[in-house]
Amino acid sequence: MTTTLITGIGELITNDDSLGQLTDAAVVIDGDRIAWVGAAAEAPDADERVDAEGRAVLPGWVDSHSHLVFAGDRTAEFTARMAGQAYAAGGIAVTVNATRAASDEELRAGLRRHVAEALSQGTTCLETKTGYGLNISDELRSARIAAGEVDEVTFLGAHLVPPGADADSYVDLVRGPMLDAVAPFVRWADVFCETGAFDEDQSRAVLKAAAAKGLGLRVHGNQLGEGPGVRLAVELGAASVDHCTYLSESDVDALAGSSTVATVLPACDLSTRQPLAPARRLLDAGATVALASNCNPGSSYTTSMAFAVTTAVLQMRLTVAEAVRAATLGGAQALRREDVGVIRAGARADLHMLNAPSATWLAYRPGVPLTHAVWRGGSRV
Ligand code: NIG
Repeated sequence: MTTTLITGIGELITNDDSLGQLTDAAVVIDGDRIAWVGAAAEAPDADERVDAEGRAVLPGWVDSHSHLVFAGDRTAEFTARMAGQAYAAGGIAVTVNATRAASDEELRAGLRRHVAEALSQGTTCLETKTGYGLNISDELRSARIAAGEVDEVTFLGAHLVPPGADADSYVDLVRGPMLDAVAPFVRWADVFCETGAFDEDQSRAVLKAAAAKGLGLRVHGNQLGEGPGVRLAVELGAASVDHCTYLSESDVDALAGSSTVATVLPACDLSTRQPLAPARRLLDAGATVALASNCNPGSSYTTSMAFAVTTAVLQMRLTVAEAVRAATLGGAQALRREDVGVIRAGARADLHMLNAPSATWLAYRPGVPLTHAVWRGGSRV
């Protein structure tokens, strides 16, 4: 197996407590894993050498929340929203119609296009969800297509009650035969627990059925107002609760005292003209925070994790170190993975080299594309 020495790293963010943040550093890749991390002057030799010429290197972004199995776009809805119309869950049905009408090849091509777009900007580990099928056959094909293309797949049959369907009958379908059909292709199950989508009892029923099937849990909660999402996620031991835009003091306390990661989605908050999630308050209380793109055609049509990091620093008052950690290690924790989001021996060799001397430039030079090179599983992309 070929080994590669990346040397001349001006700033190396490892997210590993014993290694910390290094200057004048080097990393050795062996196959798909990191083999060695340390001072450039002490680096072992390797088959190939790459000189970072003083650039910063960080773990590849871990984007723990996206909805990329879809067809069509919602430009008209976005235009109306920027003119003052409110975002509502019902817009999801527009994408459901377009997704059902698309062929497998169209859905797969769209997914690949967005995954490639994300990878080219440094996203090396990506979660995506079903949720624009909303019947057994379309949820199943979304799950099957996603499983062939991304690291982590989440079943989101409980995204919206399809227009015209009876809510309780639909919940029975989701937690029964739909769950049975998709389970072999997914690791996670999620519920949109929000006014206009699923209430607390319906959400609990779906999540408990998924847990009984051995799936890990995630929750869309507190996106459009305070509600039961965070509480339910913590109660059921979900790996993450995502959005967290409207939080009560007891929501913040519950997250701080739990292993449930609070995933904040600043591009979505901005694109839906909501306040930004209180990430500063969550960190100060002791909660674990992840930053993700929430790329989807309705509420957040961006794959840019750099945009999330920049916004978290400039507008949510995180330090650069906190924001980068939330977009790398935080995402890994939200996906309960230890092999990504860190640079240490044995981790997957997912590296993001910036055309900048330090990660601070992600906020210091907002909007400027700073990705210089990306390695995923040891391969330079
Ligand atoms: O995470 N909130 C629910 N689901 C997506 C939006 C989906 C859509 O509007 O199409 C979200 O924002």
